[in-house]
Amino acid sequence: MKNEFIYQIFPQTFCEKDNKNGIGNIKGIISKLNYIKSLGITSIWISPLTKSPFKDSGYDVEDYYEINPVFGDMKDFDLLIKKANDLNLKIIIDIVVNHTSNKHIWFKKALEGDKKYINYYHFKDPVNDGPPTNWKSKMGGSSWEFVPKLNKYYLHLFSKEQPDLNWENEEVRLEILKILNFWKSKGVKGFRFDVCNLYDKPHIFEDDLEGDGRRFYTDGARLENYLKFMNKNSFNNETNFFTVGEISSTTKEKSVNYAKVNNNELDCVFTFLHLKVDYINNNKWTYTKPNLTSYWNTLKEWQLYFQNNDSTLALFMNNHDQPRSISRFGDDKNYWYQSATSIFGFTSLLKGVPFIYQGEEIGMTNMSFNSISDFKDIETLGNSKELLLDHNEETVLKILSSKSRDNARSVMQWDNSLNAGFSNAEKIDLLINKNYKIINVNNQINDESSVFNFYKKLITLRVSDEIFTKGKVEFDDNLDYCYKRIIDNREILVITNWTSKNKPLTLNINNYKIIINNYQNINFKHLLPYQLLVLERF
Ligand code: NOJ
Repeated sequence: MKNEFIYQIFPQTFCEKDNKNGIGNIKGIISKLNYIKSLGITSIWISPLTKSPFKDSGYDVEDYYEINPVFGDMKDFDLLIKKANDLNLKIIIDIVVNHTSNKHIWFKKALEGDKKYINYYHFKDPVNDGPPTNWKSKMGGSSWEFVPKLNKYYLHLFSKEQPDLNWENEEVRLEILKILNFWKSKGVKGFRFDVCNLYDKPHIFEDDLEGDGRRFYTDGARLENYLKFMNKNSFNNETNFFTVGEISSTTKEKSVNYAKVNNNELDCVFTFLHLKVDYINNNKWTYTKPNLTSYWNTLKEWQLYFQNNDSTLALFMNNHDQPRSISRFGDDKNYWYQSATSIFGFTSLLKGVPFIYQGEEIGMTNMSFNSISDFKDIETLGNSKELLLDHNEETVLKILSSKSRDNARSVMQWDNSLNAGFSNAEKIDLLINKNYKIINVNNQINDESSVFNFYKKLITLRVSDEIFTKGKVEFDDNLDYCYKRIIDNREILVITNWTSKNKPLTLNINNYKIIINNYQNINFKHLLPYQLLVLERF
């Protein structure tokens, strides 16, 4: 397994330098490379920097070979690679090829009726004067859009501005290979494949009488061939190149294959079941507290299944699509420090490849939204329309506040100056969390007892001790929120309490020495609220 600790940047809200547009840029990223390196990070994954009309924050690519002018230009990107190399940091870029933007030249040509490009996408005839199937888009509404001029519908699993590519068309696959190899030759050291288990669409499009259609297009039969094709012709299992696939709505049996040793597909996969424990009936757009028992059972099950099958999971609790885990799973008011550190520490020492998301390392929290009009994200807005059909505004606001991706997309809190130190622009159109005067990098960087310095200590431990990359993970059926990492005759025990109450400690820890404790003290009878202990057996 590759020994990486990865930091994710969402470029528009990370940092702006030498401009006053009020949007993050590549120069801003360059200016913070030393900061990221100081945490002990080995690689940086950057969400899309390519040209885009920005309907979905860059996940709608208009040109795969051009940098989005709001972020800078190719010279800036080359400099980023060089500066990152100098610091021994690898740059991993986002590859969004399940779909393009509707402004991509291929799609524009398709709309003009060009047969070659029509076949780059999924255009289908109407059925009974309506869409070919009843499938729902993940952004709300139907997943089909009608084009009167062609008298056809096209498929978009996300917004209508994100038409799905037809991977079965070899020309499309060759275009994708060209894109991968272009960026590889630029010096990037890894790819994150956006929703890659949705690439393969069925031959027959049929109504889903049980759900929203996802069971027909998720983990398709040809998918593994497509992953092998990219591997063979691009990154080819290179030891110094890192690949991770985002795998949505999947099962452990399917997803384990994509990152299995010797399968020649990917290095690891992001899966999401552990985060869907605050969904009611598998529906994200509902409100409930996370079910901690489900969380724990899912985590254990997936850890063991991946270990037994020689495959690798990505370890994460935050990214640009998720509400902040400190607010979701922790108590960001009464146990802010303890929640941030225990959720992160417990997750990152498991078996797999750990990722953190910008701002997590200083304990950034969810936003507080006062009205539905405060939201900006296309997925949130799309789904809010449907929610309003069934619920009153107050309920919708509560659901959106708990689930919206906007929670993760407020600007990075660097200091307590204008715009949280993110940009010098007089006015910015991005979300700023009001707590930036207190929660910011400047306040924490020199404070040994800060969240930031806890992250630093734990990251250093994780990347420097092979027990975490090579060691086994073991669970005891009688103990929840507890696991062991084992190698040769060494054993590390990681134990936590993700509640605001004391939790009895039923384990004898006298034979262990403390490596990490997010409290000053230890009580041998119980764990304190959100306490995390990392112990090594004598
Ligand atoms: C997953 C990305 O992480 C998300 O931000 C995006 O909206 C969808 N894929 C569509 O590209």
